[in-house]
Amino acid sequence: MTTRFQALRQHRAATAATTILDLFADPGRASAFSCRHGEMLFDFSKTQIDAQALDLLLQLANGAGVAEKRDAMFAGAKINETEGRAVLHTALRNLSASVVVDGRDVMPEVRATHARCAAFARDLREGRLTGQGGAITDVVNIGIGGSDLGPAMAYLALAPFADGPRCHFVSNVDGAHIADTLRGLNPETTLIIVASKTFTTIETMTNADTARRWMAEKVANPAAQFAAVSTASDKTAAYGIDPARVFGFEDWVGGRYSMWGPIGLALMIAIGPDRFDDFLAGGADIDGHFRTAPFAQNLPVLLALVGIWHNQICGHATRAVLPYDQRLSRLPAYLQQLEMESNGKTVAMDGTELPYDSGPVVWGEPGTNGQHAFYQLIHQGSRVIPCEFLVARQGHEPDLAHQHLLLVANCLAQSEALMRGRSLDEARAIMARKGLTGAELERQARHRVFPGNRPSTTLAYPQLTPFTLGQIIALYEHRVFVEGVILGINSYDQWGVELGKELALALQPILEGKQPTKGKDGSTEQLVAYLRG
Ligand code: F6P
Repeated sequence: MTTRFQALRQHRAATAATTILDLFADPGRASAFSCRHGEMLFDFSKTQIDAQALDLLLQLANGAGVAEKRDAMFAGAKINETEGRAVLHTALRNLSASVVVDGRDVMPEVRATHARCAAFARDLREGRLTGQGGAITDVVNIGIGGSDLGPAMAYLALAPFADGPRCHFVSNVDGAHIADTLRGLNPETTLIIVASKTFTTIETMTNADTARRWMAEKVANPAAQFAAVSTASDKTAAYGIDPARVFGFEDWVGGRYSMWGPIGLALMIAIGPDRFDDFLAGGADIDGHFRTAPFAQNLPVLLALVGIWHNQICGHATRAVLPYDQRLSRLPAYLQQLEMESNGKTVAMDGTELPYDSGPVVWGEPGTNGQHAFYQLIHQGSRVIPCEFLVARQGHEPDLAHQHLLLVANCLAQSEALMRGRSLDEARAIMARKGLTGAELERQARHRVFPGNRPSTTLAYPQLTPFTLGQIIALYEHRVFVEGVILGINSYDQWGVELGKELALALQPILEGKQPTKGKDGSTEQLVAYLRG
């Protein structure tokens, strides 16, 4: 463990008794422990990070070489060392840039594919490209993980901007997902997009086969209503998809970072290429900020440092992402893949064991729904759960402004309640006002104590637009990068998902009864016997 990590832990131990409220004795705290970029405000003042902790955290980032590695990433260096790949999802949203990989400027091809996607989306939206029964009314994106979560999340987030065909997202190999989605759709006016970087993922290919059979029942030429997004043009061709409807990308775009390119095609069809470009511009805006702002005023760096403080320094194993924005209801799921698939690792880039915990468990739900479900534990449970609130200044429903105000009030109330808590004396006073006395007052009061001093951050933005969403997603992507660099891990591989896939393939013939369960453990044997029925 580096001396900087040790210094931070010592500082944490020495200041553990200082509460967040104590820190607000400094009238300048809110602005000193906040960062503004454009119209965005990130407030991390309701944490126990004090001036010295922040200084040590900034030293940690500098000492880990975040700036050098950031510049190497943007320049196309192969920072994904375990797969020998560059990491260039940023190139997908900086279309005017020039980026060289293996001696070749990759941008002309990126721009050409972007233009092809835009033309395809326009042709569909404007009725020049139709299904065999008329204009396309529905688009079904079949993909999983990074080929699903990004566009599915963004489609919900940008509902006020969706004026194209309806989009549906099928990911689970559970036949229920595709059956429920296709029920009620007309195959003659539906476009299927098979989205898979590798075009081998079993869930996606199985669902694609199901969709093809469904379409073949009514449509003379099902292939004509299929499109594909993939890096594997040989496999899309073998699947019979017309190359004119195949949108490729390179292996330097990781699955969970891919929504900026053709994987975002369904979103582009839904909101139109111009708004999709606004989304890209939001991401590019954060790229520029990340590359140039000093670390003390750099949003992704600060977000990462707060994360490191809570997880590796304070030992809080999870963090809750709580958007007070119903349309961001899938953001926690999206961030689960982005953060946990990227930083859920215990081996450092050099092959050694990490001397501290890997990235945290990320979870959450939109407010105010979560308040009526799991906030009880956040307020009074024994574990501290750092909360990350997101909230817009303005909604999209001017005639429901009073509801937005209530939403904002709830968001602010939660971070205040988490910080302030309620002491036993305050709880006793409340019980006394209710007329209780003696042992019963004491007993009831104890249930009404809130420990307080529970940390939270708030990311506030003007309104959830394509541009703002692009900013938010790029912000979290770079946060993951900075945390990964500080931990010394490769945030861009995902070997941890492979073993389960291999074992599932081996179990398939056993479940079909074609192979014996020999060699399996007793539990697996028993479950196979039960589930085969
Ligand atoms: O299961 C892991 C994973 O490889 C993810 O990283 C990826 O986003 C997902 O599967 C889907 O992969 P593909 O786009 O190749 O179908």
